[in-house]
Amino acid sequence: MKVQEFDSLSEEIQALVSSSIEARKLAYAPYSKFYVGASILTTSGTLLHGANQENASYPLCLCAERVALSYASMHCPDAEFRAMAISTSAPLGPDDIPAPPCGACRQVLMEYQQRQSSPIKIYLVGHDRNVWIYDSIHQLLPHSFQGDFLNK
Ligand code: THU
Repeated sequence: MKVQEFDSLSEEIQALVSSSIEARKLAYAPYSKFYVGASILTTSGTLLHGANQENASYPLCLCAERVALSYASMHCPDAEFRAMAISTSAPLGPDDIPAPPCGACRQVLMEYQQRQSSPIKIYLVGHDRNVWIYDSIHQLLPHSFQGDFLNK
């Protein structure tokens, strides 16, 4: 993982990060008030986004990352995902560090990464304009469970 300031990112990645911040406005999070936006950049340059969608029956809440992945996969079924940016709007504590994706979202991200030939980069957006960058979902989920194990 490396940390980079927003201003030092390429224009394309700045647009991705900004899109994830904008996507937070689409969150439906009346229960947690934890607003999450996730945006995907495809290898052809398309941006697609998602936000968390909650339900009074709490276990039915959908994370922003998985909303974005499903939306992107439906709209651009042949696309490869180059990167995902994730941003949250709740106060993050004294250091203002970004909130990383939950374990379930990491597992789903891994499945999407395995369906394509290149890694998905992850950009986690903090409130202090520092962005945490992971070159592959492998860095967030080492030793993952994979479909290969089912076919032995
Ligand atoms: N949430 C996400 O959107 N992504 C994560 O990776 C973790 C949690 C959402 C789900 C729920 O709406 C709220 O954050 C609190 O858990």
